[in-house]
Order: sequence, then C-alpha cells, then structure tokens
Amino acid sequence: MARTIEIQTTTKKKQKPLQHELGFGIHFTDHMFIMDYNDSQGWHDPRIVPYQPLVLDPAAKVFHYGQTIFEGLKAYKTEEGKVLLFRPERNFQRLNRSNERLGVPAIDEEFALEALKRVIAIDQDWIPTAPGTSLYIRPFVIATQPALGVDASTQYKFIIIMSPVGNYYAEGVNPVKIYVENDYVRAVKGGIGEAKTAGNYAASLKAQEIAKEKGYSQVLWLDGVHRKYIEEVGSMNVFFKINGTVYTPALNGSILDGITRNSIIQLLRHWDIPVEESTIAIEDLANAAKSGALEEAFGTGTAAVISPIGELYWNEEKLVIADGKTGDISGKLYDTLTGIQRGTIPDPFGWLVEVNI
Ligand code: COI
Repeated sequence: MARTIEIQTTTKKKQKPLQHELGFGIHFTDHMFIMDYNDSQGWHDPRIVPYQPLVLDPAAKVFHYGQTIFEGLKAYKTEEGKVLLFRPERNFQRLNRSNERLGVPAIDEEFALEALKRVIAIDQDWIPTAPGTSLYIRPFVIATQPALGVDASTQYKFIIIMSPVGNYYAEGVNPVKIYVENDYVRAVKGGIGEAKTAGNYAASLKAQEIAKEKGYSQVLWLDGVHRKYIEEVGSMNVFFKINGTVYTPALNGSILDGITRNSIIQLLRHWDIPVEESTIAIEDLANAAKSGALEEAFGTGTAAVISPIGELYWNEEKLVIADGKTGDISGKLYDTLTGIQRGTIPDPFGWLVEVNI
C-alpha cells in the first residue's frame, strides 16, 4: 500500500461550536481522512481532504446490504497542550475483526493509526478542553461497488471523521434509566452481534423508540435464544455490583468486546475488587435488586464513558438501583478513567498514545 498521505487543507475553516453546546456527534471538524479499496490495487490513495459530502452510486452495496463497519474512540488535550488517544490500537484491531466478519478486506492497523494521528494534528484546534468534552473519532468502512448481487463488495472506502463532543446522554454523568427488552432481540451467537456494524444498531432502533416513549434512555438486551440472559445496552456494555462482586456478561459472540469494558475490568482487578465475567440471568438480577443485594449498576462505552444506571424496568416492574444515585464504584471508575484519559492522573497500564502535533 502507498504510504504517502496526500494532504489538501481547507481554505474555508468552519466556525467552532461553543464548548458547552456541543451535544454528541452533531458538529464535525474541518478535515477527514479517506482511502479507497479495489481488488486490483488493494487499499490505495490515502488522503486528507476538507470535510465534505461523499458522492456514491445509488447501487453502492452499503445502501442495500449494509456491508459497513465503524469504530469510536476519543482524543483529549491536556492542560499542557499534549494530545492523547486512549488505546487506539485496540480500535483498529477490532475494526479488522469486524471487517473479517463482514467480508471486508483488512486494513493495515499501524497505517490507520498513523493516518488518524495526521488528521488529528491538522484539526487539533477542534479538540475541546472543557470537563466532560473530547474529540470523538469515527473511523468507518463502506462497501461502494455499484452492484445488486448479494456478495461481498469489490470496492470500499475507509474514512475517518471527527466530532467535538460533550456527554452522550442528556443525563450527563447522572444515572440513566434503562428498559429491559423482552420482545425484540438485537443479536444471536453466530450472527454479527460482536461486530461493530450498522445492522446491530439498526436492529435496536425500534425498541429504543418504545423505551424512550416510556421515559427510558436505552434498552438492555437479553440473549436472542432464551430471552433470559443479559447481553448489553444499545451503546454500552453493562456491569452490576452484587454483594461486593462486580459482574459483567462474558463475551459470548453476540456482544461487543468493549475497550472501555476491558479497561474497567483491569482497573477493578488493579484495585482488588472482585470482578467476574459470567452469565447473568435477568431474573437473578431482578431478585438481587429486590433483596438489596444489587448495590450498583453502570454501563461502559467510549461515547458514554461510565454511565451509572439508576433504574431498570423489567416485566412491568421498576427496579431502583442505589436509590437512583451514582454509586461509589461507578463514581470512582469515572473519575479514574477520565483522569487517565485526560492525563491528569498517572496511567499505570500504558494505555495512552500521544499524538505529535
Ligand atoms: C461508542 O461508544 O463509541 C459507540 O460506538 C457507541 C455508539 C455511539 C454507537
């Protein structure tokens, strides 16, 4: 693959939004990275160009068969002006695992990280610094071959766009209320549940709409076969502290192998807090909530960071957790993780990667 990234900078820089009005994924920076794939050239023509619309053939396979992958990671700017990424190599490793599942050709992970660093350096003024803000980075791949036969595309684009963001949830860092979904399912083992691909999110939207109408921010999915075991929330992995031990659903092929999830497990082990990856039945969780054994619940994700869960709604019952407040462990995890990510506390795990600007 050609290693030279062609760079075309914009002559019309956009006005930046105010840091307290960022929202999530609404504003985009001045530039984007893009490269193409075809069977004869492989991945080629890597370039950084002004942020712009794409021109695609209406027959492009992504529109018809959903062959697309995405990732999410964040960049932070420290008080000294350093730019930090959090475990970015894991995002590109996971991108390639998702690519593999969806029949998309692998991307050179080191080159993708290099390209990301280059585009961040160009748009570094877009990295917000107010508490709770960051630059959210969305690498993604789309199938662009214009053909309606159902087989893997022979042409793709890999693109990186970036968005200055605030909190993912309107609740901010306050506890969210989650609806446990009994009727719809998101994924099954052997399907595409552990790939970060659009179909999983499309499958979640109807249930999420219903949950929202009832006053819940997100849906908690149960396994697609028994409708019994806890999987994940639409945009987060989940953790429950029961009688002093923290449990999270084991990676079973149908849930996302979250990078924040993995970091939280490592942090809890570092603090000698018992943590188990296991199979968790919703009924047992509800009983734990009713008996008072369920001490805390929280979700983890790049976008959501750590989001305490104050209430679960299941089978027409409201299960209130930690009096609807942020629990001690959730708060400590949030402060520690965001402190490491922003470079305000030491990173004993070697998670941070600095971008030379
Ligand atoms: C993330 O946490 O980065 C996600 O991809 C979740 C969501 C915004 C789709």
